[in-house]
Amino acid sequence: MKDSFLKTMALVAGLAVLIAAGAWMATKGAGNGPGGGFAPVAGASIGGPFTLVDQNGRTVTEKDFPGWLLIYFGFTYCPAVCPTELQKMATVMKKLGPDKAAKIRPLFISIDPERDTPEALKGYVAMFDPRLEGLTGTVEQIEAVKREWRVYAAKVQDPGASDYTMDHSSFTYLMSPDGRLAGLYKAQDKAEDIARDIAGKLE
Ligand code: NI
Repeated sequence: MKDSFLKTMALVAGLAVLIAAGAWMATKGAGNGPGGGFAPVAGASIGGPFTLVDQNGRTVTEKDFPGWLLIYFGFTYCPAVCPTELQKMATVMKKLGPDKAAKIRPLFISIDPERDTPEALKGYVAMFDPRLEGLTGTVEQIEAVKREWRVYAAKVQDPGASDYTMDHSSFTYLMSPDGRLAGLYKAQDKAEDIARDIAGKLE
């Protein structure tokens, strides 16, 4: 338990270093397109093959998602961060315009598979954007994608409540059709800047 916690923290620290390096590169003006300001993440070893369950209860793998993906990891019980980020993702899709947005599949992957059933996910994601698709899976399947995408997520028991909540990292990942990380966006990044960055990468 402690060992896996340390490993997770090491992964999160690795992501933070990646972003810090990107911020430093941005101030130096190196490697940024007209969108500017985002981490040069091309080639970072994030993401990989997966087996999950979609919002209709079907088993899916990375082969079912061959194009550009915009992925956010969260959970439907999240009181604040996930709804904000999914709303932002919907805004990004709108700002991209229909032609560019049609090249991207936005995904919400649950880090709380014990409560996020396919049905729960389906109703939840539809509130943000009809194009947004929810994916969940077994605990083991979700642990595997968390490792691949270096997502930190852990149950937190609120002493005043009967139910638990989830503490989790919050990044939006742009994956290119070859399965590589093409963009990594933080909670502080604005929808219009993200949309401009993605638009530049789709060309
Ligand atoms: Ni959340």
